[in-house]
Amino acid sequence: MLQFRKTLFGGIAPALLSIVLASPVVASDAHHAHHKDHNFGAFTKDNVLLTPKDYREWIFVGGPVTPNDMNDGKPAFPEFHNTYIDPASWNHWKKTGEFRDGTVIVKELVSVGTKQSASGNGYFPGEFNGIAAMVKDSKRYPDKPGNWAFFGFESYDAKQGAIQADDACAACHKANAAQDMVFIQHYPVLRAAKPKK
Ligand code: HEC
Repeated sequence: MLQFRKTLFGGIAPALLSIVLASPVVASDAHHAHHKDHNFGAFTKDNVLLTPKDYREWIFVGGPVTPNDMNDGKPAFPEFHNTYIDPASWNHWKKTGEFRDGTVIVKELVSVGTKQSASGNGYFPGEFNGIAAMVKDSKRYPDKPGNWAFFGFESYDAKQGAIQADDACAACHKANAAQDMVFIQHYPVLRAAKPKK
């Protein structure tokens, strides 16, 4: 046993290390494959999405804005909607033009701050307001429309989201969104990356 260990650590490990060091392409491919398969959502036992944390490092697909002053002070979601897709699902989208099982899309809400700046009059982002999210997963959500579950969050500090009733969220997305319940008509970043068939 001791001999075996000695061989393992004294012999094989350095040999492997030198292979890895000598072939950076192999090493980075392996890393890439791992990254592609990685699911970014984390869930409770009951398939409720834990509050996403690092989504500002995901791929930003767009920022629709429904300002209070154009919506009687009560847009459905205030006001800027900064929308992000997880990196693994972005890679899949670029290859297939589809949202894969495991896709997490977060929309982060930001108030309108000032309406004037050095660049002109307009709507300028103010402060973060909250988040909402949707997750596609045929195993976790076999009975949800399009296998998408929708989540609201009480605050950034909430441990987890609250799964929303289909008529609160999914119905409008199903009726109006351009592809698979996602409003790609409002995300030029997604449309530009979609492969031409
Ligand atoms: C009346 C229609 C409607 C309802 C109801 C609705 N949404 Fe949306 N949602 C939209 C539209 C339109 C967009 C894209 C434009 C925007 O953000 O204003 C959007 C965007 C999103 C996005 C970004 C991805 C995408 O599909 O564009 C998420 C995530 C989202 N909504 C979550 C929710 C959640 C959670 C609920 C329920 C609490 C909900 N939505 C209810 C219309 C709706």
